[in-house]
Amino acid sequence: MGLAAGGEGWLRLAVLELRHISKHFGAIEAVKDVSFSLEAGEVIGLMGDNGAGKSTLVKMIAGNFRPSSGTMLMDGAEVVLHRPLEARRHGIEIVHQDLALCNNLTAAANVFLGRELKMGVGPFKILDYKAMYRRAAEIFTELKSETRPRDLVKRMSGGQRQAVAIARTRLSDAKIVLMDEPTAAISVRQVAEVLNLIRRLRDQGITVVLISHRMPDLFAVADRVIVMRRGTKVADRKIADSSAEEVTGLITGAIETV
Ligand SMILES: Nc1ncnc2c1ncn2[C@@H]1O[C@H](COP(=O)(O)OP(=O)(O)O)[C@@H](O)[C@H]1O
Ligand SMILES: [Mg+2]
Repeated sequence: MGLAAGGEGWLRLAVLELRHISKHFGAIEAVKDVSFSLEAGEVIGLMGDNGAGKSTLVKMIAGNFRPSSGTMLMDGAEVVLHRPLEARRHGIEIVHQDLALCNNLTAAANVFLGRELKMGVGPFKILDYKAMYRRAAEIFTELKSETRPRDLVKRMSGGQRQAVAIARTRLSDAKIVLMDEPTAAISVRQVAEVLNLIRRLRDQGITVVLISHRMPDLFAVADRVIVMRRGTKVADRKIADSSAEEVTGLITGAIETV
């Protein structure tokens, strides 16, 4: 299961593999026996109706929730993530549905929030603003975003806020970036910007899991689609082998799977 045929016929390990992952909250079974594996540099669309279990699933991958049962493997070795910090150490970053940014701070300050660069030694350490502005500027350039490090987040558009949230994931050399509804509340022009950011991440070999309600987003950037319905994985297909009609049918249940 963890092995997949690589481009040149080599066998390589999945970046992440979920085996029989379930999560219940009391009597509610939010995620039921979900298994899949993710490859490096792949964009996976995670689709499903409200309450299908998408957020719960990515929160388990990000260390926000512990699975009730099942195992997770990274590069073939089992990992147990107790906290988001542990997921981050394994190269897993999440951009939450409600972008947790500080409005009163600059773009650079938000990028480095909780991971500030310091200079000096011992008790004389001070924040290295210059280095943080410089590094933030490099990341925005790399992401081809027009966001400037000194811009205040409260003056930013939804697309720029996404760029700030995504820039945070670039600090840590993430292997996997999980994005929960990044285009839910932004304008069409900004959606294009966010989809471009996703392509930039993929071009750097990062695996992106994109939760979206928007079918056009899925077909614009994803290589593969995983569909959830009522906590269960109902489909896992290459985008090239599917269609918007099929995905819609799988989401609503109009298309039954065995
Ligand atoms: N922290 C929680 N406590 C209790 N129930 C939850 C919690 N988070 C999610 N749920 C429930 O789990 C199910 C799946 O929710 P969620 O993962 O948010 O779905 P989606 O992101 O696909 O809309 C829903 O029935 C939801 O009410
Ligand atoms: Mg959700």
